[in-house]
Amino acid sequence: MSHAPPKPLTALKSASLHGRLSVPGDKSISHRALLFGALSLGKTRIEGLLEAEDVLNTAKSVTALGAPAVKKGDIWEVTGRGVGGLNKPDGPLDFGNSGTGTRLMMGVLAGHDFPVELVGDASLSRRPMARVLDPLKTMGLEVDGENGDRLPLTVRGMCELVPIEYVLPVPSAQVKSAILLAGLHAEGETTVIEAEPTRDHTERMLRFFGAEVIATPDGDGRTRITVKGNPVLQGRDVKVPADPSSAAFLIAAAVIVPGSDVTVDGVLINPTRTGFYETLREMGADVTFENEREEGGEPVADIRARYCVLKGVSVPPARAPAMIDEYPVLACVAAFATGDTVMRGLAELRVKESDRLAATAAGLEANGVSCVTEGDTLTVKGCNVAVPGGGTVETHLDHRIAMAFLTMGLASEKPVTVDDTAMIATSFPEFLGLMGGLGARFSSPEGAVPGADA
Ligand code: S3P
Repeated sequence: MSHAPPKPLTALKSASLHGRLSVPGDKSISHRALLFGALSLGKTRIEGLLEAEDVLNTAKSVTALGAPAVKKGDIWEVTGRGVGGLNKPDGPLDFGNSGTGTRLMMGVLAGHDFPVELVGDASLSRRPMARVLDPLKTMGLEVDGENGDRLPLTVRGMCELVPIEYVLPVPSAQVKSAILLAGLHAEGETTVIEAEPTRDHTERMLRFFGAEVIATPDGDGRTRITVKGNPVLQGRDVKVPADPSSAAFLIAAAVIVPGSDVTVDGVLINPTRTGFYETLREMGADVTFENEREEGGEPVADIRARYCVLKGVSVPPARAPAMIDEYPVLACVAAFATGDTVMRGLAELRVKESDRLAATAAGLEANGVSCVTEGDTLTVKGCNVAVPGGGTVETHLDHRIAMAFLTMGLASEKPVTVDDTAMIATSFPEFLGLMGGLGARFSSPEGAVPGADA
């Protein structure tokens, strides 16, 4: 997959941000709704699907596998094929930048007896797939590729997989989900054991579609998640709540730009996803969950954030899975705090869309913020409100690095430039427009300032 030419952008110190707004649907839930819809009988109707490149690639993939995902008005409709009922696609499935789409699809394809080639962009082609392929191979998946476990890869499943019991070696919801999805195609029970709770959308949504999924503590502080094979899944109506990982940038901006007051409506507050908000509160931020309610089987709330002076904190490693995608923006927020913020247990950041630990540290240093990386620990030395800025950040095809540093630039003394914003479209195409609507200022090399219509 080739990329459009890079689109650099500069964030400028902005006056207070104000507004009440919504952000698009959660990426993790959107991928799952499409995939589970494809494995169900009948129609699945999805309201609020995230229409970003990553999810649209999953929509194209299920369509290519014979389960068309089509937009009708505001609703996406998937015509499912039932568990094991997908068809061989005519060509490779291209997942672009998306690790979630690729890895969950590997679990689905493990239960189908035809070869499929999986491809992706330069970032995705660098990411490790063995974490998913190894357990899937023990269940019966065959894998062929020229770059070890990296894409492009051809996988070939089988109709009746061998059920396994698998202890997750890394805290990864993608790995857990791929195995549970393969377990749908195995005779008997497939069990995943996780030491640290990771996002549980697969478990919740598989149950909603009719699968038997049981999660029980194993007595050692770990959780055993078991799925029973060969269920009949029924198409459902799914409502996708707003993405807390996208809302995080708007909330972070409100917390660091003096005088701001911003509310993001209807955000998913599943406890496996809210570590960032918990950490902001510990830093002294004025962040509240208002109007808490349940929508589509997930807890949601309106999240309100107001500017506040922050203090550095120590973030416990056990919290990492619940805020794994938010460390770059947390590090940018920590730059404004008084004192050090210490983030431990960040090994998984090294295998995201970029090496996020290295990219975050480099971006901070380029903007005059001192930080120290020791093993899997990042310590950000807070600048006590006055973050120098003035640097250019290399984004390495990583949407969250781009958005984190553009957010930081809204409150830095000098402008902050990111070398490319094109990848923002993979998860949050509305980012610049929504930020602009709150009062955020950006400038591009052409001089245009993307506002609410950008
Ligand atoms: C995701 C899980 C996380 C996260 C990713 C989405 C998911 O990855 O970083 O953005 O939807 O399951 P890992 O499971 O690899 O930690």
